[in-house]
Amino acid sequence: MSKPTILVTGGAGYIGSHAVKALQTVGYQVLVLDNLVYGHQDIAKTLGVELIIGDTTDRPLLDKLFSDRAISAVMHFAAYAYVGESVSQPDKYYRNNVVGTLVLLEAMIAADIKNFVFSSTCASYGVPQQIPITEEHPQAPINPYGATKLMVERILQDFDVAYGLKSVIFRYFNAAGADPSGAIGEDHNPETHLIPLVLQAALGKRESLTVYGSDYPTPDGTCIRDYIHVSDLADAHVLGLQYLLDGNQSEIFNLGNGNGFSVQQVIDAAREITGKPINVVMGDRRAGDPPALVGSSEKARRILNWQPQYADLHLILQHAWAWHQKRHA
Ligand SMILES: NC(=O)c1ccc[n+]([C@@H]2O[C@H](COP(=O)([O-])OP(=O)(O)OC[C@H]3O[C@@H](n4cnc5c(N)ncnc54)[C@H](O)[C@@H]3O)[C@@H](O)[C@H]2O)c1
Repeated sequence: MSKPTILVTGGAGYIGSHAVKALQTVGYQVLVLDNLVYGHQDIAKTLGVELIIGDTTDRPLLDKLFSDRAISAVMHFAAYAYVGESVSQPDKYYRNNVVGTLVLLEAMIAADIKNFVFSSTCASYGVPQQIPITEEHPQAPINPYGATKLMVERILQDFDVAYGLKSVIFRYFNAAGADPSGAIGEDHNPETHLIPLVLQAALGKRESLTVYGSDYPTPDGTCIRDYIHVSDLADAHVLGLQYLLDGNQSEIFNLGNGNGFSVQQVIDAAREITGKPINVVMGDRRAGDPPALVGSSEKARRILNWQPQYADLHLILQHAWAWHQKRHA
């Protein structure tokens, strides 16, 4: 018997495309909905997946999609995710991330689709009170982006009570790396994430890399973050989906590496792996950057039996480097 069909919103983006590949690998039928504002159309061809170009705020499109196709669950990656832009243009973020999700959820309820996997974020915790951060850590986002994700988490709780919509919420730390085959990888424009920026500097695509703050109370003075391999994230999504399809209750999981790496450690490892000089400019601290953000993913390991395969920083960088060389060749 063939496996059910899953709608992946934002599947032409970075993490969503890796989830599409992971779903296909274990035999799910996959449909992607992406407005291509930040996604890449060529991903559909690379992965051999059907792409519907459209927006989660488009209720008629969703109603038609859900009535035409037998969709069993939705994996919802579609969102805007630039923290700085969310501060300067909060309306863009509340409309897309909150209203877009609400419209999608309403269409799902109308079509009696009750399984939902949601991309939340460690940004919903705000400044950590203790490390590693567990799922019980209070949530107090310090920017509109984190607030949009927290609002959706609340909507999901309420939709479960009212309509029986079951969800798995994943709060990710920093997604990094690329598919080990080199077929897909991270290609944000603009790029704000450390690892691609470091690798772009190694490729000569940017003159230098700015390190924001070298006087933090960390061993080398630079910020510590938790980098989780995107393929490990994708695998967790498949397990989370299966958990829902097996009839379990709604649940929330952190997804992180469990080990933090400093900005300086990432730069040193990137120099080693690429064999290239990477020019670094030391800048001032940025407002709202906590010294360290590291998550505990013990719950996902225990309940979903999630076993990350690529926790090693060098592997994450090697896969990202292979992808960047190919993409910018
Ligand atoms: N990258 C990370 O480290 C990270 C960390 C925590 C959470 N997240 C969350 O994971 C998800 C995926 O992140 P990503 O890095 O892959 O981002 P991405 O920008 O690469 O992918 C998001 C995709 O969603 C699409 N999209 C956005 N709004 C849409 C809408 N209204 N309708 C249809 N398509 C829409 C974009 O075109 C893009 O292809 C996001 O929800 C993000 O908030 C990412």
